[in-house]
Amino acid sequence: MLNWFKGLLSNDLAIDLGTSNTRIYARGAEVVVNEPTVVAVARDHTGTRRVSAVGRAAKEMLGRTPTGIEVIRPMRNGVIADFESVSAMLRYFLRMLQGNRSLSAPRTIVCVPVGVTEVEKRAVKEAVLTAGAREVFLIEEPMGAAIGADLPITEPSGNMIVDVGGGRTEVAVISLSGIVFANSVRVGGEKMDEAIVQYVKRRYNLLLGEQTAEDVKMRIGSAYETESLEELEIKGRDVVGGVPKTVILDSDEVREALAETVSAVVETVRVSLERTPPELAADIVDRGIVLSGGGALLKNLDVLLRQETGLPVMIADDPMNAVVRGIGRTLDKLDLLKIIAVS
Ligand SMILES: Nc1ncnc2c1ncn2[C@@H]1O[C@H](COP(=O)(O)OP(=O)(O)OP(=O)(O)O)[C@@H](O)[C@H]1O
Ligand SMILES: [Mg+2]
Repeated sequence: MLNWFKGLLSNDLAIDLGTSNTRIYARGAEVVVNEPTVVAVARDHTGTRRVSAVGRAAKEMLGRTPTGIEVIRPMRNGVIADFESVSAMLRYFLRMLQGNRSLSAPRTIVCVPVGVTEVEKRAVKEAVLTAGAREVFLIEEPMGAAIGADLPITEPSGNMIVDVGGGRTEVAVISLSGIVFANSVRVGGEKMDEAIVQYVKRRYNLLLGEQTAEDVKMRIGSAYETESLEELEIKGRDVVGGVPKTVILDSDEVREALAETVSAVVETVRVSLERTPPELAADIVDRGIVLSGGGALLKNLDVLLRQETGLPVMIADDPMNAVVRGIGRTLDKLDLLKIIAVS
């Protein structure tokens, strides 16, 4: 532990192991890996597993694989669901970063969602160590997001960060370098995609792939009424006839499909505000709420939250990279790291 603080080497890394995306930040080089958390595994005739693709290349295979290849999303709701695949993916990224240089094994800072169990935290540590790291240090994800969003977390004032990721929404109130209150629900962008799949199936008898649903969400999805109605032609398979079919979906329909998931996000924020100690709540009235994570990019989520809470709501710069940049910044701030690390 002491050695860790004595001096980090230049190959020390910060890792955001997200449900949807994995990002790695190298000291002095910023974000060096930004890939979907997806692994394709091939099984030969003897049943031996071999990683055949990782990241973007593996994600493109989703829903399109022949027998013998399995595409795995090894994280679920912010925690490890498939240990082997997570460590194989990380090993691939670490090797890629080392290239043919023979660097010593990196020391790493990795984020975990707030409120996960000790067993889940230990699994993250083990996976990163198995992948080739020398040491692993854990930081809670909303703390990373708050640092990455440039919130003045060391001051004695309340800062509220809401990170809407692929698998979780996490809310935290931070003051004096500590999390005063945190709330986390297993609702995020992936639940939104599922909601679109369900809606289109019910309304049009059309089966969509999850990638198509995500695309619909990003292109014409919204949390609150938009100025103009947008339409998108989508392709899927007819439930009844089994044949490929095309329908036109508009932005009002997509908002309706997303409504339940979006209100779960709003409710989490509301409950968190209710439970925040009064002095800090008063600070949040002045400073507002900052959004990070990919879900923050859902059109008009900020508008809806502003309307529902009556508070100022801002989206962090580059919200999807806020967490990894935040934990990455602690590579240079050992005093802060000592205070905020959870183990
Ligand atoms: N423009 C957009 N509109 C709506 N959603 C978006 C947009 N861009 C990305 N997303 C969604 O953001 C999610 C990914 O966000 P992010 O990378 O922050 O998650 P993660 O860190 O992997 O997950 P978690 O923190 O929950 O483990 C995906 O569900 C993706 O569809
Ligand atoms: Mg995340």
